[in-house]
Amino acid sequence: MLLQGKRGIIFGALDEKSIAWKIAERAKQEGATFTLSNAPVALRMGGIQRLAEQCNTTVIAADATNTDELKIVFEQSVEVLGGKIDFVLHSIGMSPNVRKNRDYINLNYAFYAQTLDVSAMSFHKILQTAWHLDALNEGASVVALSYIAAQRAFPGYGDMADAKAALESIARSFGYHYGLHRKVRINTISQSPTATTAGTGIKGFDDFFDYANKMSPLGNATSEACADYCIALFSDLTRMVTMQNLFHDGGFSSVGMNPRLLE
Ligand code: NAI
Repeated sequence: MLLQGKRGIIFGALDEKSIAWKIAERAKQEGATFTLSNAPVALRMGGIQRLAEQCNTTVIAADATNTDELKIVFEQSVEVLGGKIDFVLHSIGMSPNVRKNRDYINLNYAFYAQTLDVSAMSFHKILQTAWHLDALNEGASVVALSYIAAQRAFPGYGDMADAKAALESIARSFGYHYGLHRKVRINTISQSPTATTAGTGIKGFDDFFDYANKMSPLGNATSEACADYCIALFSDLTRMVTMQNLFHDGGFSSVGMNPRLLE
């Protein structure tokens, strides 16, 4: 019961494969209460209502690029949960360029702006909204999900690489201010390739998944393992960890070469 008595908001559970879905299930197991939020279109397409029933919670629709809608998410969450928020998960990513197979050289700039807004700036918007509403408790923990393309070139990842670099930078920059302000911790988890709707949308996902799996001494980290790690970050056990990008990748990020890939 690591999260007993804690209140949270989980953004980005679409279906059973979503990493946020697994995190919601684990948070429930650990005694947390929380609300779920996703874009209106995702609410129509996905199975989030099923998750809400399972977790006995409320779904609040919001486009994470829209600060008026985010304000409603925080206000309603504080109301239905009965107090300020202790943890927030940002599990949101989308690139129209990747979806439409536009490679990095030939990015469409309107799409590029959308990628950055949805996948990175939304994190700043969530944090700014929480700040102005004073919606987070002292010592609250905020986590966003990232990918190693923020540090290294992964050609198929397109403009999402730039979005992840911005996302990780926002965690550091906002983490500084929110740490001083309310001892709020802000971190990113850099997760292994995972077979979700967003993940499998990347060109060549299956080959790349196998490559990363062979390269990593522990193999790829599953979404269930990611949920465990995230719960640890939401808990008080990690109360002095902030402004970090934390690799959760079975060791992938520290390996130069693994002979089993050559075999
Ligand atoms: P997913 O497709 O289940 O989740 C992406 C979520 O973003 C969906 O719930 C979608 O509705 C939401 N979203 C998109 N546009 C939105 C908007 N305007 N407002 C609100 N929500 C919006 O896929 P997954 O893999 O669970 O993705 C979650 C996070 O994990 C993303 O940030 C992704 O980049 C990151 N990640 C995923 C990896 C993978 O291989 N699947 C690896 C490393 C990081």
